[in-house]
Amino acid sequence: APTTIRIDRSAVIAPVSPRIFGSFVEHLGRCVYDGIYEPGHPTANEDGFRMDVVELVRELGSTTIRYPGGNFVSGYRWEDGVGPRDQRPVRRDLAWHSIETNQVGLEEFARWCKLTGSELMMAVNLGTRGIEAALDLLEYANHPSGTALSDQRIANGAKEPYDIRMWCLGNEMDGPWQIGHMSAEDYGKIAARTASAMKTADKDLELVVCGSSGSSMPTFGEWERVVLEQSYDYVDYISCHAYYQERNGDLGSYLASSLDMQYFIETVVATADHVKHKLKSKKTIKLSFDEWNIWYLEEHQASDEVNDEWRVAPRQLEDTYSVADAVVFGNLLITLLKNHDRVASASLAQLVNVIAPIMTEPGGDTWRQTTFFPFSVTSRLAKGEVLRPQIDAGTYSTKVYGDAPLVDAVATVDGGKSALFLVNRSQTETIDVSVDVKDLGAEVVTEALTLHDEDVYAKNTREDQFRVGLKQLSGAVLDDGVLTVSLPPVSWSAIALG
Ligand code: AHR
Repeated sequence: APTTIRIDRSAVIAPVSPRIFGSFVEHLGRCVYDGIYEPGHPTANEDGFRMDVVELVRELGSTTIRYPGGNFVSGYRWEDGVGPRDQRPVRRDLAWHSIETNQVGLEEFARWCKLTGSELMMAVNLGTRGIEAALDLLEYANHPSGTALSDQRIANGAKEPYDIRMWCLGNEMDGPWQIGHMSAEDYGKIAARTASAMKTADKDLELVVCGSSGSSMPTFGEWERVVLEQSYDYVDYISCHAYYQERNGDLGSYLASSLDMQYFIETVVATADHVKHKLKSKKTIKLSFDEWNIWYLEEHQASDEVNDEWRVAPRQLEDTYSVADAVVFGNLLITLLKNHDRVASASLAQLVNVIAPIMTEPGGDTWRQTTFFPFSVTSRLAKGEVLRPQIDAGTYSTKVYGDAPLVDAVATVDGGKSALFLVNRSQTETIDVSVDVKDLGAEVVTEALTLHDEDVYAKNTREDQFRVGLKQLSGAVLDDGVLTVSLPPVSWSAIALG
């Protein structure tokens, strides 16, 4: 049967919030040092930030940026990263077994966010620290003036407060690898107390409590229930983290990875709403999917890149992404948009060099990985409101997820402009799709782009930086309110209508 999609203008999921296109900068490997920051680089500004990287971050269109970790934050003292740079302490980062020079901290990063036009989302350390350090950081960052810490910020050169709205209450506290890892009960209590104190200072803060580090965590579901029962009244979001990779050459299952993300979201929503009902609360908890990406974690764990040496900015977690990776990645973005009514915020983990869409070489080039393209196009075209399409597509059989639809899609509409994002998961077939877009009142196809290659494992590398890019999707025709497109096998596509 032919694949058909119907777009119903009234099937609105949510208005598109820029926060769905967030990203993440952690003090890890070469993300900060030799990534966004490299003082000797020919394009470096007075702060030492690489302007060629800033340009690519702007092109990517990432919005809210989570900082400074990740696992790193659970051993971090924020005070180390403020004040005169020549007086900042050099310390050990136990999370990544590295040396942290503290040459970049809150002050520099806030300036970098201004350069890139992004919103800073800050994490507090609930691993080795607690309420007092979180309150101190909040005062330093957000209080206008006239207190010890706000005046210290001003003395350090930042007259205006940073006015950071979103705060993460620690990171992945469910993970045994986390410094200060706790039980759900213990974490729920410390998160509730910290959140309550932070909201006493500013009731309008948006606070994110740690959910699970992945849907395969043994505590998944139960962790969310227990943590939310403790902290529900004080928090606004619960976090989700998920990474995907191809395993055992099973490309078919890998291409259906977004089914896991869907299951993850539905389970967390059900759990959060169960707690809402139990506590008779009027508030609905939103999801902050603040780490998502492709990550060949098992290969990194088997390597010795995180080793006993204490090094500054070692090469860690530097995945090179293929076309297939970018297709799965684009499908994850589609899934986030399809759940945007509850997933109000999301952060691609991470941004530069470390499992990243943007790569750099010290003193040298910066280039786009394959995953750069679905992100930059979606963030540019997805405006207005997200619409849920009715998709009637065939299925294929996968080892991990059973039968999976061959096609997935989502639509957005913004006045007279609309966009469709589609994936074809088939490894062999081009799929002809007929999309009923009468409701959108579109007259013309303004853009039709696809990410596809005869070699699904083609990659952009330092030596071959432009091997993979977007191509025109030929043959996209709009006729009498019906759009017909042919999606190549293993492809991600975007079509803009006007
Ligand atoms: O993004 C890399 C790491 O993945 C983060 O530090 C951690 O939060 C997660 O396990």
